[in-house]
Amino acid sequence: MDAKLKIVIINGPNLNLLGVREQEIYGANTLEDMEKLVTGFAEDNNMDLDFFQSNHEGEIIGYIHEHRSANGIIINPAAFTHTSIAIRDAIAAVNIPAVEVHLSNIYTREEFRRMSFIAPVCIGQISGFGIYSYLLALQALSNYLNKA
Ligand code: DQA
Repeated sequence: MDAKLKIVIINGPNLNLLGVREQEIYGANTLEDMEKLVTGFAEDNNMDLDFFQSNHEGEIIGYIHEHRSANGIIINPAAFTHTSIAIRDAIAAVNIPAVEVHLSNIYTREEFRRMSFIAPVCIGQISGFGIYSYLLALQALSNYLNKA
């Protein structure tokens, strides 16, 4: 059997409060629910997942650097999507295929959420499907990596 693909799933600020925070926008599911959802797919598809959440930009950058041997990145940068050139540069620096994920559809919300500093250094973006966005991202990444 081929070696397992190592995928890191990174969540940015305030996503630790998922399930409590603005439920009308982000739904009732927690980060733990998301982890259970994607773990099943990973087990069936020979992938190894590592989860990380931080409210601090520098910690997210450090984590990306430390995991530069990973095969893929799934990242919900949360509010850093719209502000962080530093996280964008970290993803570009490690040169690992990355997928940007959002629970909400950022294009139907406030104008400032429509701009992502991160998307241009990702292979794609999935937005609007709640925790299911993460599963779609993992499926897309798996397909991308198995074709590579
Ligand atoms: C979010 C969208 C961002 O605009 C927001 O700042 C978040 C969550 C989402 O998953 O829908 O914190 O990334």
